[in-house]
Formats: sequence, C-alpha cells, structure tokens
Amino acid sequence: MEKHETELITFKVQRYDPEKDNEPHFREFTVPSSRGMTVLDGLIYIKENLDSRLAFRTSCRMAICGSCGMLINNYPHLACHTQIEEFRSNTLTIKPLPNLPIIKDLVVDLIPFFDTHKAIKPYILRHDAEEMENPTTEFAQSPQALETLLQFTYCVKCGICISACPTSASDKLFVGPQALAQCYRYCADTRDEGEQERFPIVDTDHGVWHCHLAGACSEACPKGLDPALAIQLLKRRVVSRAIRLGRKQQPSSKVPPPTQTKPKVPFPEFTVKGAK
Ligand code: FES
Repeated sequence: MEKHETELITFKVQRYDPEKDNEPHFREFTVPSSRGMTVLDGLIYIKENLDSRLAFRTSCRMAICGSCGMLINNYPHLACHTQIEEFRSNTLTIKPLPNLPIIKDLVVDLIPFFDTHKAIKPYILRHDAEEMENPTTEFAQSPQALETLLQFTYCVKCGICISACPTSASDKLFVGPQALAQCYRYCADTRDEGEQERFPIVDTDHGVWHCHLAGACSEACPKGLDPALAIQLLKRRVVSRAIRLGRKQQPSSKVPPPTQTKPKVPFPEFTVKGAK
C-alpha cells in the first residue's frame, strides 16, 4: 500500500464566545495532515484531540447539507469540500463567514438568511388551489424547460454567496444572491404562476436593483451555480412584467393520471433470502 507523508499544519482559528469574550481572537493548533485530508477533517481533529470547546457546524461531510461554510485563508469555502493541500501553505487561517452574525467561534446565525429564503416562497405557486391542496397528478415540465433553470436547483443554502457579496456587506436589508436566485428559479419554472406574490419582495431598492453585478457570488459558489446570472434574468422578468412585455405565463398543464398501474417487477431470487 502506498505510504503518504504526514505534514504539520498550523490552524489559526478565530474564537469568539459572546458570553465570555469582548472581541474575537485567534488560537493556533498544530494538525497532522496527510494527503486527501479536508479542512473539516482538521477541525474535527482539533475538537477530538486538542480543544473540545471549538464550535463549528458540519453534517453530511459531502458538500450537500451546506453546514460547513467558513472563511479559509480569507476566501469562503465549504470546509468538507476543501482539501488542506489545495492551499500549498503550512498555515491556514480560519474565520466564520462574514456578513452573518456570529453565534460562537465558526458558527454563524443563519436564521435571517433562511427567513429571507422562506419569504420569496421557494416552492411552486399556482392558482388552482384545489389541485395544490389535494394533488391528483403531476404538472408537466419539458426537459428543455427544466434545462433553463436546472443549475439553480442545486443550491445547498450554505450562505457562501452572501458572505462573498459586497452589497450584502454594505446593505443589511439586501435580499441577497441566494434568495434572488431562488426567486428566479421558481418564477422561471413553467409550472409556476407566483411572480405576483414574489415580486413585491425583489422589485425594491434592497432587491434586484441593488445588485451591482460584482459577480462575487458566482465566483464563490461551491456548487458552481451562477446566482449573478439569475439576478440579471430576474431583473428582465421584473421589467417585462411591469411594462407588460412578457407573455403572460400560462402554467403548464396537468399530466393525465396513469390509466394503468405499473407492473410489479419481481425481486430477483438471489436478493430474497429463503425465497422459494
Ligand atoms: Fe455538509 Fe460540508 S458538512 S456541506
């Protein structure tokens, strides 16, 4: 088996406990790092071996849950998706995501972020309330229509776009790239007719019109989304609706319910122990 060398890396971690500390300060830890080790692995090593009081968030460890966003060497990353060797440095400086209030150490308060996300109603809205309440079938969506918004469905709500955005840094009321991109994702969905309910939130001085197209959100997104593009497309939708240029979007029709139930596929015998 191939043997990988272990290197000693200094983790300079920002600490802050609002109940005890007047201001944030740094503490250094030495972490043995081997090939393939992520920054999150390093933080887990510190917590398990050096300081159990270090606070950070993690859950999936595979860039899906969006919990582990943090500033690593002054750039926002998902710690579970970032290998230590990517930085080619023996020192890593780790801080909580900016533009969000700190709860403790590397844990930031995401409640305001999720409140804004909820406010834009990130789900399909239609006028046929009866069908929405008691669905009888699915709403049609062509593969081509899905393609136009597919990338925006991959958002993991990590808050990294907000932490990178210069407008979020200067305007605490700014809706932010995450919620604006999700607003576009649902308004552009051919099954949806919820623009009227969402636009009062985004068609404001703190909404799409405060985006200066710095592009930092798209640069930083760990899932490769382009929220800056979504915001520009959302601006176009807002204007089109205001001057009645856009075709009134007719939501897609319902798919006829299946006429016959799918035939049951029998389990292969080898998977069913003791099957006759
Ligand atoms: Fe889930 Fe990093 S732990 S995204």
